[in-house]
Amino acid sequence: MPVTQRQTLGQVLVCLGCCCGRQDRGRPGIPLEWLKAEWKRGGLLKHVHLSVSGCLGPCDVPNVVAIVRPDGLEWFAEIDQDTYYAALLDWARASAAAGQLLDLPAEFHPKRLTRFRDTPAEVLR
Ligand code: FES
Repeated sequence: MPVTQRQTLGQVLVCLGCCCGRQDRGRPGIPLEWLKAEWKRGGLLKHVHLSVSGCLGPCDVPNVVAIVRPDGLEWFAEIDQDTYYAALLDWARASAAAGQLLDLPAEFHPKRLTRFRDTPAEVLR
């Protein structure tokens, strides 16, 4: 079984595809350069990896962010203000300091996205 030397607490996927972040298509922007620079400056990549992805699928509710945890994925949509990305950065810093992925800040709770048809009720926290 392969074992990476780059084990992290988790990973953040920020969608930047055909719709998410595409201001040229009338969609909300993403402060991506700022986010990547701050993530790197804080040395967060070795704790919570940040990835910018192509289309993750639910284009009708941009901007989509997914949190990859050891026990599954959490999906969020309509992450359409810079303040959400600032909160995401703070959360990653706090998670790195705690040595575990913490719950996302309360402002993300109403942004939780039910991604799959057969999502068990207990997953919809
Ligand atoms: S471009 Fe983000 S879900 Fe399709």
